Amino acid sequence: MTDSDQSGPGAAIAPRPGELTRTIALVGMMGAGKTTIGRKLASALGATFVDSDREIEKAADMSVQEIFETLGEKEFRRGERAVIKRLLKGDPIVLATGGGAYLESSTRNLMKTHAITVWMNADIDVLWRRVSRRSTRPLLQQPNPREVLERLNEERSPVYAEADFVVESGDGPADEVVSALRKALGV
Ligand code: S3P
Repeated sequence: MTDSDQSGPGAAIAPRPGELTRTIALVGMMGAGKTTIGRKLASALGATFVDSDREIEKAADMSVQEIFETLGEKEFRRGERAVIKRLLKGDPIVLATGGGAYLESSTRNLMKTHAITVWMNADIDVLWRRVSRRSTRPLLQQPNPREVLERLNEERSPVYAEADFVVESGDGPADEVVSALRKALGV
């Protein structure tokens, strides 16, 4: 068997170091580690890493929190959709998406068409531990943030499960999650 006739998804997604043929989009809840793992995966593959929230912030010249406060969630979702659409039409990248992006049907359909999608799944206690370290997530600026996180996790999990792959993002070292992800994708 030669390099060019390898089977499995890896041969199609990352035939050579630094060369992705398809965007790898990470989806899942806040605190699932999409940014940390995505950045490490991109570095391992010699690919470009982009975080959709950071791109929305750059485009709006406002933080996600400011966008929610001043323009509202609906406007944030509109910007998110536009940014992800633009990114998916560009060169293949490793893309970390905001936790609500895959829930929007048009954004989800774009991702299904233009990317390999991976659900970064984590236990609710792990998610809670991670998100409670920072107070930058507007959806959790409420008196009962843990309940909100639990509810969102339950509502969203069946939709995240539509992703092409699922990888567990537990408490272990990030490098182990990256290895599991590379194994799942075959890259
Ligand atoms: C959101 C998740 C956030 C950010 C915004 C909304 C969500 O991104 O897009 O606060 O709806 O779950 P992270 O998943 O990167 O925290």
